[in-house]
Amino acid sequence: MNLTNLSPSASRASISDDVRTRSLSPAIGAEIIGVDLSKPISDQLFAKILDIWHRSLVVLLRDQHLTEDDQVRFGERFGPPAISHTQRFTTKNPAVMLISNVRENGELIGALPDGEMHFHSDQCHQERPATASMLYSLEVPSQGGNTLFANAYLAYETLPNLIKTKIDGRKALNAYDYDNASTRRGTRLREGIPSCWHPVVRTHPATGKKALYVNRLMTIAIEGMSDSESEELLNTLFDHQEQPEFIYEHVWRAYDVLLWDNRCALHARTDFSAEERRLMRRLTILGERPF
Ligand code: SIN
Repeated sequence: MNLTNLSPSASRASISDDVRTRSLSPAIGAEIIGVDLSKPISDQLFAKILDIWHRSLVVLLRDQHLTEDDQVRFGERFGPPAISHTQRFTTKNPAVMLISNVRENGELIGALPDGEMHFHSDQCHQERPATASMLYSLEVPSQGGNTLFANAYLAYETLPNLIKTKIDGRKALNAYDYDNASTRRGTRLREGIPSCWHPVVRTHPATGKKALYVNRLMTIAIEGMSDSESEELLNTLFDHQEQPEFIYEHVWRAYDVLLWDNRCALHARTDFSAEERRLMRRLTILGERPF
């Protein structure tokens, strides 16, 4: 498959005025070079960043030295911050959550602490899932703990027509069991687990493009199908969307900012040693109801 044809904007480096970009992979992701997020961003510069983000789905800005307020100020340009369901791992701002395996006095200081995570889309179990998620790295392990991103437009566009016909117009149930391991997907909705039905194929409000909106971690069932039919189709969709040619794997350095669009990109995390510290600050932006 020639991904250059499918995703021309992500495949080449370019210079546009003061903003330079570098492709991160043929399928997804662009690094933005020459922008300091600790300083206020003009409307003109923000419009360029937004355009790059819409075309590349994931943007990376390296060597950023940001206070929590700086991070929130930049995030707010994309929409209202989503207040976290638990305030346990927030510090100053109720929308900023620590993602970390670090323990202080035996207590975790962050959410999603350990190891591998299956592909997912943030807050897809809620009525209004996150549009954007921004992760800012403060401490990273020497190996692993990489974050993978998959292009969900490409996943939809490359599905066989027979499958497109089966899923177009259908909804799927997304649920998140906070107490379960992040790689164990439920196939039944247990009592009290937050969940929401959303379209299997969603349309991005800004680009008008269709994206496959199911994921291995949180999607439990497709409406109007028997359990076995739904499970078989979901597994086919998961395997399809996680093909290496749709993916960029980010190897973190400290002070990286990654901002991704949950409406058209999935993410996952590789395993890492429990002996090494990993500390990130995450901000999510409240989105619209998927359609
Ligand atoms: C997340 O899924 O939001 C966390 C990803 C990561 O820790 O790399």
